[in-house]
Amino acid sequence: MSLIESARLVRENAHAPYSNFKVGAALRARSGRTYQGCNVENVAYPEGTCAEAGAIAAMVAGGDTQIAEIAVIADSPKPVSPCGGCRQKIAEFAAGDVKVTLATTDGIVMETTVAALLPGSFDADYMSRS
Ligand code: THU
Repeated sequence: MSLIESARLVRENAHAPYSNFKVGAALRARSGRTYQGCNVENVAYPEGTCAEAGAIAAMVAGGDTQIAEIAVIADSPKPVSPCGGCRQKIAEFAAGDVKVTLATTDGIVMETTVAALLPGSFDADYMSRS
């Protein structure tokens, strides 16, 4: 199954009663295993979590730390754009050239990279004097 199809399936499980905006994410780790996540909202709104964060949490819990590829899907007029926080979370576990596929449920697909989504990202090099 493609990552987009995997993301499409897990999106159905999203808990999004406040925004009604369901998002699914799926990633393949360098090990070859795939992990999925969906957004999980909360009545205390800031406590909600994004689909990408869920997939990353599943990956780390599964013993993987290197993202080889990631895909995100939502029912949006144009391919869903990961929020700033999720871009940083993805960058923690992915090289800049890692492919990011963004899609709509009705079939519009956009391909980009981690570096294109988060140029000039803060990384551990900045802390080399610490
Ligand atoms: N959301 C995601 O899960 N991923 C994204 O890339 C964009 C936004 C969620 C957060 C919230 O539950 C809902 O979409 C509306 O912002």
